[in-house]
Amino acid sequence: MTESNRQVLLASRPEGKPTESSFRIKDGPLPSLGEGQVLVRNQWLSIDPYMRGRMMDIRTYAEPVALGDVMVGDTAGIVVESRHPGFAVGDAVAGHLGWQRFGAIDGSLLRKVDTTRVPLSAGLGVAGMPGVTAYVGLIDLCAPQAGETVVVTAASGGVGSVAGQLAKLRGCRVVGVAGGADKCRHVVDDLGFDACIDYKAADFKASLKAALPDGVNCIFDNVGGEVLDALLPRLRPGARITLCGAISEVDNPSPHGIRRLLPLIVNRVKVQGFIVGDHPERWAPAIDELSGHVAAGRIHFRETVAEGLEAAPRALIDLLAGRSLGKQLVRIL
Ligand SMILES: NC(=O)c1ccc[n+]([C@@H]2O[C@H](COP(=O)([O-])OP(=O)(O)OC[C@H]3O[C@@H](n4cnc5c(N)ncnc54)[C@H](OP(=O)(O)O)[C@@H]3O)[C@@H](O)[C@H]2O)c1
Repeated sequence: MTESNRQVLLASRPEGKPTESSFRIKDGPLPSLGEGQVLVRNQWLSIDPYMRGRMMDIRTYAEPVALGDVMVGDTAGIVVESRHPGFAVGDAVAGHLGWQRFGAIDGSLLRKVDTTRVPLSAGLGVAGMPGVTAYVGLIDLCAPQAGETVVVTAASGGVGSVAGQLAKLRGCRVVGVAGGADKCRHVVDDLGFDACIDYKAADFKASLKAALPDGVNCIFDNVGGEVLDALLPRLRPGARITLCGAISEVDNPSPHGIRRLLPLIVNRVKVQGFIVGDHPERWAPAIDELSGHVAAGRIHFRETVAEGLEAAPRALIDLLAGRSLGKQLVRIL
């Protein structure tokens, strides 16, 4: 029996938070290959916060998904057919193939995953887009020096967990911020951060102050809102803030926002937002360095895995609600 191509389509644009009815499953034939293309049997799908924005009919830094189209997303899998000289059947690869079991893509848009150094799934996490995001945002933009203090928000997540461990490897003191005691325990005990503050706890601001007696030189921020605002009084002169994400604003009709600017001015702070896709030249060196750290046991990662493509909508809903630990993935059966 030939395999069908199971896909998850965008069925409707959510008003408020997305639900499983925002998506629809479709089974169809396998795609046929054009010249220069590669057919991949996807094994892993990455679930990422940016997918929420693509469900809306608004253009941000990328086009929205059209209703009835396959949801966008990165996948990792195995080449099953190739009409590109750079890829052979059996190669382990990652690319932007979408929420589906099989994908055909131009070989120039695909990259190999070095499974001698990292598991295939890590090609979507620490050795994939989230890892490169952490690398560019921390190393290139925050540029922390040994001995400096770095704060990473959403510290237990796919991006934050890597950013914090990279800062530790650069000789920094690293304080994470995460939601809940279990996530904070993981951040300190498993990832090796020096401290982690639970932003959901009643004494959040006092704990933050206590954890930063000498202030903060670099903030790698994934969340914005109340958490970032609470960090601003702790800034040191010459501090840098990398604005990576603002997940507290997602599906939030009245975001908290930034309520004070003076700490930025008096401390001559550099604030830089960025989009990882704007740095294609950094992907290969970042993935090479990060894969080396993983292989040598210097960087650790956790995955939350949903089983089967049908579970992808629920996995996205859970990610946005903070119910995943580490990188949220779907295993494509
Ligand atoms: N600029 C870029 O190019 C780029 C690329 C990739 C990702 N990003 C951004 O980086 C951030 C992290 O992405 P990721 O893939 O690693 O996701 P993630 O951190 O694995 O998952 C998102 C986490 O955000 C936290 N969160 C949710 N709502 C929150 C709220 N209201 N306040 C504070 N924290 C909240 C949750 O953790 P807690 O339980 O700790 O709250 C949740 O686990 C996202 O904002 C994403 O959009 C940016």
